[in-house]
Amino acid sequence: MTRGAILSGLGTWLPPQVVTNDMLSSELDTSDEWIRTRTGIGRRHIASPGMSTGHLATEAARRALKSAGTDRVDVVIVATSTPDRPCPATAPVVASALGLTGTGAFDVAAVCTGFVYALATAAGLITGQVADSALVIGADTFSTILDPRDRTTRVIFGDGAGAVVLRAGDRAEEGALRGFDLGSDGTGVDLITVPGGGSEQRLSGTEAAPGDQYFHMDGPQVFTRAVRYMTGSVRKVLDAAALAPEDLAHLVPHQANVRILDTCARELGLPAERVVKNIDRVGNTVAASIPLALAAGAADGRLRAGDPVVLTGFGGGLTWGSALLTWPGGLTVIDG
Ligand code: UT7
Repeated sequence: MTRGAILSGLGTWLPPQVVTNDMLSSELDTSDEWIRTRTGIGRRHIASPGMSTGHLATEAARRALKSAGTDRVDVVIVATSTPDRPCPATAPVVASALGLTGTGAFDVAAVCTGFVYALATAAGLITGQVADSALVIGADTFSTILDPRDRTTRVIFGDGAGAVVLRAGDRAEEGALRGFDLGSDGTGVDLITVPGGGSEQRLSGTEAAPGDQYFHMDGPQVFTRAVRYMTGSVRKVLDAAALAPEDLAHLVPHQANVRILDTCARELGLPAERVVKNIDRVGNTVAASIPLALAAGAADGRLRAGDPVVLTGFGGGLTWGSALLTWPGGLTVIDG
């Protein structure tokens, strides 16, 4: 037997408040028609005041642990770019809220690729025998960093959390993570960024420029790079396993924009129905996006035991990454 990391639990949590396209159109110069045709988004969930990323992460994690039938793990990793505080990490607080004080806990910041990076980290800890189990949570509350007047970003992003439990097992069994591809290009730092509030701006001795505390994104530039890097990364992770795109049962991509997902599918030669999409209901939920899409694909019965599935993400950094796994048998997803 070769030691591997096995997906054994999946849970999600969305804050109850729903914001529809019509609600946004009542306060911004936009329309339901523009948002649907340009992004594929119909609505998104937004955290209420007092509800932090850590709250969302804890709720999703509770459900993932229940799905895995356990209340203990050896390490807790939170992928987020909207931590509860700039310092310390959110993961130790989440671990304690779950009754896991004493457990190793840390954050991973790779924006929309955060969940793939965290999953790779957890799988490495398990295969390297540092841990026998791990809780990997993707959670973000981007509504807290958006410029309320920026119609381009306000319509895209939603809040949410999704979590998985990994356990040690045999690399050949169903549910095993079989390979990863991770990449970055820091020359694109300005394309997806919150420019102010970090050490760079503080050390320059200047006040943050007006608006620099908010999230900025160069949408069209990001669009082309998202397609290029996600398709390249999917090909790499498949090549390493001697698989071709047509061998894939399903691709579960970061839900950035439905047009990005459709273009990726076309470039990979994948029929549209093999790409899991839930962006219409949740928008772009950053680090939560992939686990929320996994839960949607499992709930509608598309992801079946033994299926080869690839997860792929792209985001700020720039960063990108993919993971290949076989879908586990007998997984009960718990949504909230
Ligand atoms: O999560 C990972 C990172 N993020 C992404 O992957 C997002 C990638 N980018 C995108 O999804 C798209 O670029 C956006 C959805 C952000 C924008 O769509 P686009 O088709 O690239 O639009 P654009 O930025 O080229 O703007 C086209 C027009 C502009 O008007 P003019 O200059 O042609 O008159 C914008 O001002 O659409 C306008 N516009 C809007 N109109 C109505 C931009 N946002 C809106 C809006 N409602 N919300």
